[in-house]
Amino acid sequence: MERLELLRYLDQDFKIMDVTRGGGSAHIVKATALRELSQFSLKKGVTVALKSPKNPNAEARQRFKIEYEVLNRFKNHPHIVTPYGLTQCGERYPILVMEWVERSLASYTRDQNAHFLTPDIAGKFLKQAGAALSALHDQNDSVGYLHRDIKPDNLLLLGNNQTVKLSDFGCVMPLGSAPERELLPASSSHGLVYYGAPETLEDDETKRVYSRESDIYSLAVSMIYLLAGTTPFEGDAAGTKRKELVVRKRDSTYLDDAVAFLLSERIPKHQQEVLRQAIDGTPGNRQPSVQAFLDDFFREKKDPHGLYFAERYKTIEEVLGDPARNVFGVTQEIGVDRMLTAYEEMVKYASEHTVTSSLVGDAKTKITTRAQQDYRILEGHIAGASALENAAKKHPGGYTNFGQELVHYFRVWGDEFSPFANPQQKRIHATDVLDFSDPRYKEFTFDPRK
Ligand SMILES: Nc1ncnc2c1ncn2[C@@H]1O[C@H](COP(=O)(O)OP(=O)(O)O)[C@@H](O)[C@H]1O
Ligand SMILES: [Mg+2]
Repeated sequence: MERLELLRYLDQDFKIMDVTRGGGSAHIVKATALRELSQFSLKKGVTVALKSPKNPNAEARQRFKIEYEVLNRFKNHPHIVTPYGLTQCGERYPILVMEWVERSLASYTRDQNAHFLTPDIAGKFLKQAGAALSALHDQNDSVGYLHRDIKPDNLLLLGNNQTVKLSDFGCVMPLGSAPERELLPASSSHGLVYYGAPETLEDDETKRVYSRESDIYSLAVSMIYLLAGTTPFEGDAAGTKRKELVVRKRDSTYLDDAVAFLLSERIPKHQQEVLRQAIDGTPGNRQPSVQAFLDDFFREKKDPHGLYFAERYKTIEEVLGDPARNVFGVTQEIGVDRMLTAYEEMVKYASEHTVTSSLVGDAKTKITTRAQQDYRILEGHIAGASALENAAKKHPGGYTNFGQELVHYFRVWGDEFSPFANPQQKRIHATDVLDFSDPRYKEFTFDPRK
């Protein structure tokens, strides 16, 4: 009955397009203004979102008032959803009128083929969401606010898929105030157990602690979701009780492993470390401000040294990520050459500028791993020089292709096959395994001795 009453009320001013959306505590209606609505400064035909509480009690009315007030303070922020006004249907239903934002980052991420975003795109969204949260925390002229419900469902994305808008201010709380009971997030808030910091998930409500650091925690878990399509606390955690999750959230080893598992193939090590720090179980170990968190995360990109390393690291990642993996093709050869050149440039730059970057070590690890894979294949081919003849005979392409394969490996990794040589590792020289004076190899133009 009451919903009907609400919809009838809205019908006077709006054409209702869609009534299906909703989060844990509110209904969202998509609507367009039927005429000019001066009380909301709306022109006829503008599409808006109308938010009303599922349970319209006194507490909800109070929350909506605060939500609107705070949104209104940040009316001009490019990354905070724009409110148009707060109205009331009858005695009970507060209605928040705001700009319509096409989708949430949660649904956008789910809709990608891979179910996660590229580091570049995720990074762009993190910057925007971080700018909004930072502004919310630290206002120049007056007291800041905690958001307390940062998660991909509450980070909305405009239709252009480029612009993030922080939304759902239903749990905001002024910084420095004692958490009042009626301002606590609804316990039904979907995703709270995954995105909430452990100190905010205490069973005993009076023991819950909210801070900038707990918002930073949720922002970092959101970023992990964008990059990996899951949080460190989902998956096998399905069905895990809240209490057990809180224990995990304070288990350093669990966190180290989870971050490495989800992110080691996706972002450079220093960025993994920044996210790991931000989701530490102890608030004091996290970055003290959103800005510090963002500065740390984007550090390599900001300073010129970092940029030099980051660009070359990217080249290496591109080569290693090439799905063709055609080791014998010319492109692969050129690719590996580009990759080794990039690495050598990093080492040279580091020594000339006496700077360090974790990317140099990361690059070395990645290249070495790949070299060792190729080395094992090579070893299989030449297992003892005596077997060489047999290997060549057995090779489907005969001497020509067999020799060509070996030559390519040597060409790719150097004629002394063993880049970043481990002294214990046998070094094999091309001329040890191929006799280029043998007429059967005469078709090759490349001779590693020259
Ligand atoms: N301005 C908006 N435009 C379009 N959709 C919105 C808007 N605000 C919220 N939504 C959608 O409705 C859902 C619930 O709204 P939200 O404000 O988060 O309330 P709840 O307290 O129920 O989580 C959001 O996750 C989002 O999908
Ligand atoms: Mg929400």
